[in-house]
Amino acid sequence: MLIKAPRTWELPERLATPESVYLNRRELAKGIAAGSIIAGAAASMPFGSAQADDEVIEQVNAQAAGDPTLDLYPAPVNAAYADAGRPVTDEVENSTYNNFYEFGSHKQIWQRAEDLQRRPWAVTFDGMVEEEMTVDIDTLIRAMALEERVYRHRCVEAWSMVIPWTGFPLKALVDYARPLGSAKYVVFQTFDDPDMAPGQSQSWYPWPYTEGVTMAEAENDLGFIVTGTYGKPMANQFGAPLRLHLPWKYGFKSIKSIVRVTLTDEKPMTFWEELVPSEYGFWANVNPEVSHPRWSQATERVLGTNDRIPTELYNGYAEQVAGLYEGMEDERLYL
Ligand code: MTE
Repeated sequence: MLIKAPRTWELPERLATPESVYLNRRELAKGIAAGSIIAGAAASMPFGSAQADDEVIEQVNAQAAGDPTLDLYPAPVNAAYADAGRPVTDEVENSTYNNFYEFGSHKQIWQRAEDLQRRPWAVTFDGMVEEEMTVDIDTLIRAMALEERVYRHRCVEAWSMVIPWTGFPLKALVDYARPLGSAKYVVFQTFDDPDMAPGQSQSWYPWPYTEGVTMAEAENDLGFIVTGTYGKPMANQFGAPLRLHLPWKYGFKSIKSIVRVTLTDEKPMTFWEELVPSEYGFWANVNPEVSHPRWSQATERVLGTNDRIPTELYNGYAEQVAGLYEGMEDERLYL
């Protein structure tokens, strides 16, 4: 059931953030509504200082301010996912530590990702669908009932965050595509534009970034298509204007900046599996007992606090998803 409730991340944020930054965010939120925010200069100070943090928040708010769907935010909180059991990660931390190889193979791509042209944007639905179509992103987003969900996010690199996402169930996207009964997989692709995203000039990567799930996974209630973070349209570095989040799987499954959704009966080859099949597979379900070939997955570093905590099977979402994998013991479910 959808309810209007105070967002659970507001309290931890207030406690965890210097007051100047917190107050500034409130002002910025008002500024967004008034359309008066402009992007700040590149942060030259280390994050954690009030000035550098403000510059990051100005950047993400400026992008939100320019988004044609701003009026849809904040969306009602889905009560079933209002609390991820851990404090929400500070927005500055989250906005400046990202994997988005199209803009570089390091974590600090938040400024480079400013080059991502988030409009015009269209999403093509093809393959085993009743009718192939290409839909303008704003038409697509406005066809959905947006809601907010707070999810844990666990990267295969053994760090984790907690994020208040806004978006809609993955199942709603699949329904929108009107798949044929014969479709078994949903495949997603990111844009392919080396002029915009210099990482795509690196020819050893199998661009465009591709990911996929089974129909059963796509229909599980946890699967989420993300349009926003922290109560507003998401900044480019998160994978604007449309990304996936599958909280029970390693983060690389959660493809960013989607332009194509293909329904098929063939298991897809995915970006990381094609690159290093011995280290990354199709399923990539979180499991503390199955190590990555080069490191343990038993614990994870919580970004923001640097606490090291035990990792949970399916990232703590076993109750909702373990049933999807019954009888599949022969598959490499955790790689
Ligand atoms: N999607 C695209 N298109 N390109 C990428 O490089 N990186 C993946 C995933 N989706 C990636 C992507 C990886 S490895 C992770 S851990 C998450 O995005 C990171 O999401 P975040 O930056 O929002 O934490």
